[in-house]
Amino acid sequence: MNKRLMASMLTITAAMLASGSAFSNEWMSKGGERDETLKLKPNHEDGIEVFEVCAACHLTEGWGTKDGTFPQIAGQHQTVLVKQLTDIREGHRDNPTMYPFAKPESIGGPQAMEDVTYYISTLKMNPDNGKGEWAEGTPEYEHGKQLFKDNCVKCHGDKGQGNAKKFYPRIQGQHYKYMVRQFEWIRDGKRRNANPDMVKQIKEFSNEDMKHVINYVSRIPVPKEDLAPSKDYVNPDYD
Ligand code: HEC
Ligand code: HEC
Repeated sequence: MNKRLMASMLTITAAMLASGSAFSNEWMSKGGERDETLKLKPNHEDGIEVFEVCAACHLTEGWGTKDGTFPQIAGQHQTVLVKQLTDIREGHRDNPTMYPFAKPESIGGPQAMEDVTYYISTLKMNPDNGKGEWAEGTPEYEHGKQLFKDNCVKCHGDKGQGNAKKFYPRIQGQHYKYMVRQFEWIRDGKRRNANPDMVKQIKEFSNEDMKHVINYVSRIPVPKEDLAPSKDYVNPDYD
């Protein structure tokens, strides 16, 4: 590599480290934009309009895809949606596919984020999420159930419902393959905005433990009132 290029790369790296953004592992950023967004009042019609951008990948129902490429976001706590969206926007969580669509140039400022995240949180969830392979009653399911009780309930709740106030995501009803990917990234330090206490809690998990516990989570029933009536349901706002 030539010396001038090397020098300029070093300068850039130093600046990134100093600004604390690009390479930081930060679970809770200072969050000016996040906190500002959460103080606003949502507008339903504007939410529908902004969501069109998101629907290209997360689908108009917000259900994502069973193969886990795109997560279900319908029914997620609004606080969690705002945190994740601003983390992605600010570079605390890597998501190269979505990054350009999350930027202010694409969707707008805090008001647009308030509108769209509120809208998403009210969407009915997928009654047919992607599940792991082990049905209730199998030893793998039972093992996962025990792991969940011992390691996850204190944050994600006894039914995986999460905690809106603390920014703990709802994980019930999420696609198995998406969750396995996130869990592995969190355990192995690849998801930079992960909660450090979760990282500690799961660091001894083998890949098998991971699959068993996520299998169990993927099979926790979602309350009926939060689910769409059938898997053929179409979001009526986009008729
Ligand atoms: C080009 C495709 C694409 C578009 C458009 C897109 N997303 Fe995403 N989104 C993704 C992918 C892929 C992931 C999962 C990335 C990963 O595995 O870490 C994701 C993840 C998320 C997450 C994190 C979910 C979680 O459970 O932590 C949120 C929240 C989210 N998207 C919201 C939005 C919103 C709001 C919009 C519209 C403004 C949007 N997305 C537009 C592809 C997209
Ligand atoms: C100390 C609290 C804590 C514990 C214990 C914990 N988690 Fe988490 N978990 C979190 C938080 C907070 C996040 C979101 C981190 C972020 O903001 O990016 C998360 C994220 C996740 C995600 C990704 C969700 C998404 O939508 O992207 C999965 C899956 C998950 N946890 C599963 C588990 C399982 C299974 C266990 C038990 C084996 C567990 N967690 C234990 C706090 C915890």
